[in-house]
Amino acid sequence: MGIKLNLGCGSDIHTGFVNIDVRRLPGVDVVMCILKLPFKDSTVEYVLLQDILEHFTIIDGQLLLNSCSRVMKTGAKILIRVPNLPKLYELYKSGVLDDVQYQQHIFGGQDYPENFHKSGYTPKLLSNMCIKAGIKNNITITDAVSNFCLLGVK
Ligand SMILES: C[S@@+](CC[C@H](N)C(=O)[O-])C[C@H]1O[C@@H](n2cnc3c(N)ncnc32)[C@H](O)[C@@H]1O
Repeated sequence: MGIKLNLGCGSDIHTGFVNIDVRRLPGVDVVMCILKLPFKDSTVEYVLLQDILEHFTIIDGQLLLNSCSRVMKTGAKILIRVPNLPKLYELYKSGVLDDVQYQQHIFGGQDYPENFHKSGYTPKLLSNMCIKAGIKNNITITDAVSNFCLLGVK
């Protein structure tokens, strides 16, 4: 059995996972920036990156994916959820999202310092970044109104 990581967990605490966030919130196991993961190579079996990758610049996002790949065992899985840029535009154009909601989905809630978005993703861009990090067999699932998920395997 390997380690399971919930990176940038916020209040979404998962039992059996190491829940990590830069903010000291109830249930957070480790308070730190996730950019440099203090885990040995090939020790992690599952990584959750939900609603967090967009909080990094595109360069740091690639470094974070590289770092996740480094700690993942061969065959380990990573589930990534990010706002879906092309879908958001469609939702805005069709009137489902108003102007305020549209900018909020793209740039973040901005209600605390760590809640600003610094990058945006299309399924193709994220898939290519994962492949560059050594994470393959990606399946993209549009699971919610405005997000998409990518399930990767090392
Ligand atoms: C939108 S919340 C998502 C929380 C959770 N993953 C979820 O799906 O509900 C983004 C979280 O990322 C955290 N965060 C932002 N920058 C971070 C960093 N550099 N290192 C660790 N956590 C960070 C924030 O504190 C916040 O809790």
